[in-house]
Amino acid sequence: GITRHYTFNIMYQNVTRLCHTRSIISVNGRFPGPRLVAREGDRVVVKVVNHVSNNVTIHWHGVRQLTSGWADGPAYVTQCPIQTGQSYTYNFTITGQRGTLLWHAHISWLRSTLYGPIIIFPKRNESYPFRKPHKEIPILFGEWFNVDPETIINQALQTGAGPNVSDAYTINGFPGPLYNCSSQGEKPVNLIVRDIYKLKVKPGKTYLLRLINAALNDELFFSIANHTLTVVEADAVYVKPFNTDKLLITPGQTTNVLLKTKPYFPNATFLMEARPYFTGRGTFDNSTTAGILRYKRSSNLSSSEKLPLFKPTLPAINATNFVANFTRKFRSLASAKYPANVPLKVDKKFFFAVGLGTNPCPKNTTCQGPTNTTKFAASVNNVSFALPSIAILQSYFFGQNNGVYTADFPINPPIPFNYTGTPPNNTNVSNGTRTVVLPFNTSVELVLQDTSILGAESHPLHLHGYNFFVVGLGFGNYDPNNDPKKFNLVDPMERNTAGVPAGGWIAIRFFADNPGVWLMHCHLDVHTSWGLRMAWIVLDGPQPNQKLPPPPSDLPQC
Ligand code: C2O
Repeated sequence: GITRHYTFNIMYQNVTRLCHTRSIISVNGRFPGPRLVAREGDRVVVKVVNHVSNNVTIHWHGVRQLTSGWADGPAYVTQCPIQTGQSYTYNFTITGQRGTLLWHAHISWLRSTLYGPIIIFPKRNESYPFRKPHKEIPILFGEWFNVDPETIINQALQTGAGPNVSDAYTINGFPGPLYNCSSQGEKPVNLIVRDIYKLKVKPGKTYLLRLINAALNDELFFSIANHTLTVVEADAVYVKPFNTDKLLITPGQTTNVLLKTKPYFPNATFLMEARPYFTGRGTFDNSTTAGILRYKRSSNLSSSEKLPLFKPTLPAINATNFVANFTRKFRSLASAKYPANVPLKVDKKFFFAVGLGTNPCPKNTTCQGPTNTTKFAASVNNVSFALPSIAILQSYFFGQNNGVYTADFPINPPIPFNYTGTPPNNTNVSNGTRTVVLPFNTSVELVLQDTSILGAESHPLHLHGYNFFVVGLGFGNYDPNNDPKKFNLVDPMERNTAGVPAGGWIAIRFFADNPGVWLMHCHLDVHTSWGLRMAWIVLDGPQPNQKLPPPPSDLPQC
C-alpha cells in the first residue's frame, strides 16, 4: 500500500439551513466533511489542526486500528482532546477491510457537523464480488439543529431532561423539502431545487450508493421511490447480496447498495426519503428528509418541478418487526476468499443489560428527568460510564491507573431483571469508570439485552477496534439454555455496529486480537452522553506485532 496524507483544519464555517445561519464547526470549511479515500493496505495520515475554541478529537469509525489504538480517537478513552491551537496526527493502516466507513468527531456532540465518508477501495488488482458499478456515490444522513448542539446537550445534562431534538434530517447536508424563508420563517413550500440533494443518473446503469448514517440520535429508514436496492456490503464487510425496497440504517452503520436505474428515461422525478425508526419515550424529530433521483436529460432541473413526483413508502415509525426481519437478512459471504472467522469455542461469556435509567437529582433542586427528583441516565449492567480526566489508554499504557479507572466492570447485571416484566421501582444507576480486562486473543461471547426499564428501546451498539459477528437476535428475555442452539455460526453478519432490538437481545462473538482500550457504546449520542458506554482493555499478545507500541510524540495531554 501507499501512504495518503490529509490535513483536517477544524474551523468555523457559516452554513444556512432551514432559514437559519449558524457558524458551525467544520473540517476545512466543508459540510459534510471531506472524503477520506484509501485502498485496503494503505497507510492513512491525517493531521488534525484545531482552530476553534472547543476541544476536538476525530474517530475513524469502523477502522480496525490494529495495534494503532492511539489513533482511534474517542476523547478520554484513547486520547486527551486536541485543544485550541494544537494539532495531532492520526496515523493508521487499513488492514483487511474494504467498503464504506465514516469519520466523525468523538467528543460531546461535535459529531453533529464534524463527519464525513471513509471510502476504502479493494487492493489494486482486486475487484468487487459484484459487477463493477458505473459510478459510486456517498449518501450521508445527518441531523441539522437550528441551535448549537453543544448548548442543547450541556443544558440537558444539567437539567436532567431529554435534550431538544434536531430540526431536520439531512441527506448529504441538505434537509430536503424546501422552506420559504422570505415569509414566516420556516414554511414548507412546493418542492423546489435549492437545499435538496439531487442525484442525477443515466438510464440502464448500476450505481453503488455508499449509505452512511451520521445522524446524532436517530436510526433511519430509507427508500427510493419505484427502485429496488441490492445490499452488497455493510460496515466495510461484503454480504450475500439481497434485494430490498427499503432499509434501516442506524447511526454508525454504513450500507453499500446497488441501484440499477431503469432502462429508459422515465418522465418523472423520484424522491428518496429518510425518516426515523423510533421506539423510545418522549419527543423525537418526527420529520422526513427527501432527496431527488433524477434521470439526466438534456433539460435541466427548473426552479419548480413540473414532472410527476413519486414518493417512496417507508415503514411505520415503530416498525420493530420490519427492523428485525431486515437485520436477519444480512449474511457474511463466508467464502474461501472472504471467510467468516466466527469464534466457535468461547473463552469468556458476558451478559450486558443495556438501557436507560436515572440519576438522583441533587438535593433542593428540581430536575426535568422522568420525575422532578431524577435525571435521565443510561447504563450497561447498571454502570453509567463516567469519562475520566486522563485518557484511559494513556494511564493504562504508563501503568498509572490509580483513581482513573478500575478493572471491575460487572460481567452480569446486579439484579436479575425480568426484561418483559414490571420494571424495578428503583431505576437509579451507579456511576463509574469501570473496564473489563481481556487477555490477548480471548474469544468472547457477549449477549446484549435491552433492559426496557424506562420503556423498551432499540440501542445501536458500536464496538471500537473490532468487527464482531452477530450470531443471534431475539425478543423478550435471552434464554441461555435454548437460544444458543439457534446461533448462526456459519455465515453471521460481521459488523461494528448492531442494533439491540427494543425489548430484545443480540448475541455477538469476537476474538480480542487487538491490544488497547476499546470503547463500546450506544451510537445514539444522547444515550452515550447519559453513560451507555463501557470500555474493554485488551492486553498485549506475545508477538511483537501483537503489542501496542508507545504513543506518538504529539499525543495531546490533558
Ligand atoms: Cu462512531 Cu464511538 O463511535
